Amino acid sequence: MDSLQIDSVMLEDTGLSLQLADGSPAYFNYYWLRDNCPSSFDRETRERTFDIFHSQNAPKPSAVKVEEQSLVVDWEGEAHQSRYPLDMLATYAYGERRPDPADLPRKPWYSDHYPDVCRVSHPLLLESNEERRRWMEALLVEGVAIVTDMPDTNEALTQTGLQIGQIRPTFFGPYFDVRTHIKPTNLAFTSKALELHTDVPAEEYAPGIQFLHCRANSVAGGLNLFADGTAVANDLREIDPEAFRLLAETEVPFYKEHDGYDMRSYQRVIELDQHGEVSGVTISQHMADIFDLPQRTFDTYYPAFVRFGKMLQEEKYVMRFSLQATECITFDNHRIVHGREAYSATSGERYLRGTYTDRGELRGTYRGLVSEGRFK
Ligand SMILES: [Fe+2]
Repeated sequence: MDSLQIDSVMLEDTGLSLQLADGSPAYFNYYWLRDNCPSSFDRETRERTFDIFHSQNAPKPSAVKVEEQSLVVDWEGEAHQSRYPLDMLATYAYGERRPDPADLPRKPWYSDHYPDVCRVSHPLLLESNEERRRWMEALLVEGVAIVTDMPDTNEALTQTGLQIGQIRPTFFGPYFDVRTHIKPTNLAFTSKALELHTDVPAEEYAPGIQFLHCRANSVAGGLNLFADGTAVANDLREIDPEAFRLLAETEVPFYKEHDGYDMRSYQRVIELDQHGEVSGVTISQHMADIFDLPQRTFDTYYPAFVRFGKMLQEEKYVMRFSLQATECITFDNHRIVHGREAYSATSGERYLRGTYTDRGELRGTYRGLVSEGRFK
């Protein structure tokens, strides 16, 4: 945003009005100005140390002037002068959100995406901020990336996750092992086909970024299936706007119950971001609870839900490949649906270890890599 050029300042009861050099008006509330005096923030901790709750009276200026590209305000009843750089005022003049370097436009992808999936090498990732940036940018823009050359250790997965942020446990614990279990608590822990899904929507805040480290894969069958839920939802928006609206507005229940826990949540199948763009999907036929909406609602909801579920499985969208030992696929669990074909459990070994971190951790680490922030 261009800097403000201020021609005149007019003091009103609740705030001050500026006439910008191009003739357009801008207004700043006195509470906002006092609260956000640059001296309110501590350089060391980078946190706000001024507490407006402790102000005796509503803030009011005693004098205002423009000096050297700053608005200078003296405050009534306190010996305090605030200097606001005009650049800072320009950012907040029109009630728009502070520019976010992690708010990147998503690029939808289709079944032919596999050769173009972003790949980064594990050892390089640990030593190169540029590689980490490239990886995280792919996760933000495309929602999927593969880490190659992973050591065959439990630590390698944790170490990879920590490159983005803190590990996010779920009710399965800090990590999970995907292989055939003798007493499975989840369909993933069998050799049966696994329908396209997002993980653990039964949790109120389902984990945001998933890591699946392939430690062994020598079985017959078991191809990995991945699809970009936002690509499918965007297409649904085009061809059936009413179905799209229902899936984006209606909350439906998910559950996960076993000995010792009874997880429940309500989620929207299609998730929209602050721009109204599709930012994700939540789909899990094995964790969908019995829908408990009024029965008449289902006359329109179920056809929309089934139409979307069928679209997700269309060849056009589904990327099929075999994840190799030493690879770790990383993806946005709120956007990318994943599954696998059935495999023959006696034909070899298939073992994946998985964990999660959150979307906020990804965005936070990415911003730290690419931007100056407010304090650098
Ligand atoms: Fe899964």
